[in-house]
Amino acid sequence: MNSIEANASRVILCIRESEKENRLQFIVRDNGKGMSAEMIELALDPFVTSRKTRSVGMGLALLRQVASQCGGDVELTSAIGKGTQVSVTMELNHINRMPLGNCAVTLVNTMIGNLDVHFYYLHKTDSGLFRFDSFWLLAEMDRRGCQVHDLVDPAMEIIRNGLKRLKSQA
Ligand SMILES: Nc1ncnc2c1ncn2[C@@H]1O[C@H](COP(=O)(O)OP(=O)(O)O)[C@@H](O)[C@H]1O
Ligand SMILES: [Mg+2]
Repeated sequence: MNSIEANASRVILCIRESEKENRLQFIVRDNGKGMSAEMIELALDPFVTSRKTRSVGMGLALLRQVASQCGGDVELTSAIGKGTQVSVTMELNHINRMPLGNCAVTLVNTMIGNLDVHFYYLHKTDSGLFRFDSFWLLAEMDRRGCQVHDLVDPAMEIIRNGLKRLKSQA
């Protein structure tokens, strides 16, 4: 949502989990408006936001707190006018680590709600690699002559099966 609010037209979501290394990493990279060096520093402070609807932005600051409680960290890199990358690491089996949740539902809803944004999802485990490109939705609408809502279930099925094949633990 931060990437979309930053007017990104491309968002890469990358999840890497390794049982061997006991490591979970997820990366969100966008080509949005970017952040100044000052904003990068402030964004990780729990009492800062550029939002007008709410005086306190907590997303990244909370994320940093959660990551450090799970033996990891948040790295924020950005360039004005170019884009932003948020990288989060955690210990995969850390007792404080919450599950990723329902990735298929989250991804499909995000993609379908923002069809003008190109999302590329990459998920890697010790067993292999799964990719899902939001262009699939556009191509499939064209091919089937259907509405995007008709693709919710098929898209979720593809992602669920992909993650099952990967033996995703996260
Ligand atoms: N991907 C991004 N691109 C540009 N600016 C960002 C991005 N992510 C966060 N920011 C900036 O950092 C601030 C803090 O983000 P966040 O912690 O998610 O809180 P919130 O979104 O509620 O403001 C945002 O208000 C925005 O100014
Ligand atoms: Mg936010």
